[in-house]
Amino acid sequence: MARTAKHDAIHALVDVKQGLVSRELFVNEDLYQQEQEQLFAHCWLFVGHESQIPKPGDYFVSGMGEESVILTRDQEQKIHVFLNTCRHRGMKVCRYDEGNTPVFTCPYHGWSYATDGRLVGVPYFRECYGEQLDKGEWGLVEVPQLMNYKGTIWATWDEAAPPFAEYLGGMKVYLDTLLDCRDGREGGSEVLGGVQKWVMPSNWKFAAENFAGDAYHNISHRSVDLAGIGPSGAGRRDTAERSTAQRLGASFPDLGHGAVSFLQLDDIPYTPSYQNTPIVEEYFRHCYEERKRRLGKDARLLGLVGNVFPNTAYLARQPRSIAVWHPRGALRTEAWRWFLVDADAPSEVKDVLRHYYLRYSGPAGMTEQDDMENWNYATLASKGVIARRYSYNYQMGLGQDYGTYDSPGVLTDRIAEQNQRGFYERWAAYMDGARTDPRNGRRNDGRATRKSARPGAHRPESRGKPPDADGRSHSGG
Ligand code: FES
Ligand SMILES: [Fe+2]
Repeated sequence: MARTAKHDAIHALVDVKQGLVSRELFVNEDLYQQEQEQLFAHCWLFVGHESQIPKPGDYFVSGMGEESVILTRDQEQKIHVFLNTCRHRGMKVCRYDEGNTPVFTCPYHGWSYATDGRLVGVPYFRECYGEQLDKGEWGLVEVPQLMNYKGTIWATWDEAAPPFAEYLGGMKVYLDTLLDCRDGREGGSEVLGGVQKWVMPSNWKFAAENFAGDAYHNISHRSVDLAGIGPSGAGRRDTAERSTAQRLGASFPDLGHGAVSFLQLDDIPYTPSYQNTPIVEEYFRHCYEERKRRLGKDARLLGLVGNVFPNTAYLARQPRSIAVWHPRGALRTEAWRWFLVDADAPSEVKDVLRHYYLRYSGPAGMTEQDDMENWNYATLASKGVIARRYSYNYQMGLGQDYGTYDSPGVLTDRIAEQNQRGFYERWAAYMDGARTDPRNGRRNDGRATRKSARPGAHRPESRGKPPDADGRSHSGG
């Protein structure tokens, strides 16, 4: 196959076979600009949650790459995502974070747009335009594709992008562990409180690859676990149920997604996690049993962390949240975090979870602070002309054999860096312009890619105790 100079340049930066990724990806402004064009203008991106805009006229201002967008519900209850820029001279049409409005009125010259995007008001339309402006041509720019997936709203600027379900592929199974009710019913989540937003002096990919499956950095959170911020108000920062399950990394190199989950290899009784709050404890015990009853063996998969390519990350369980790493320059990221809860959970449960979530995540959350410190200092220490010459190492687990499990993706059952390699393999494909045919003839359904799932397969006999079974490894985030 004839190779282009661009192809060679990109693949010189990302060599997943050797497990090497250039530091240029994290510090180079030219590459950053190319990402805006090659990735963010084409990928499916998370915009917000339908519970943020329950009524007609509700809106939430979000972002897709560097673009400001308005997520809104029109008078007919239809959900839209519009580019937040006036068609007249580009002024930001909506400068609030969220609210309710009959129209979006541009502050500059006063053009106004209905919540379905139509241009409905033009000052001096008769006097100055002589009624010669075709208002039907000058409505807000709308995304060509939008998807409401179990309450989460996703959109892409690429009308040729594959449908969302195809883009997600086998990652669906893992994303569902975030979005489905704790008792196994489909969907049913709502956003708890407001969206936390903060700025990090680091490249967005540090956060994305960490959430795609960096299970290796538990040492960073040692002090948090000593402080004891767990769900019950003490102890390890997440729940103890993980200690009875098999760690499972799932990578989708053809799609770019990565997830880490815990797979119970048998039916395991509920593990208490909220001992100090009996109502909450009872709620989660009930949900656990109910989920087992509803889903049968599928209930054995407990979600942990993941990253939907390119920049939407989640913590599926404890704490349950979704994050977007908005790119704001090679050395700058705006992080947004939404906290989720079952919409019909009792208020006592929501209250306890709210406190727990805040202890853990967001700019004031102790675990999130640890992560940011790593990414920020890594950025600083990587941008010098000398430092840039030395690739990062992603060789953990390269070429090793792993067990077979009945779960989608390229699976690793120990701490490894396959998920990060998968992320950068897809990054390189997008940057190389291979995005329009993401599969390129390879398997694209996310199931049983490469050496992964064999239906009915479980833990291999030869495996010893997984290195994380004693709770020493990181739960992500
Ligand atoms: S820029 Fe919006 S009306 Fe002129
Ligand atoms: Fe972390």
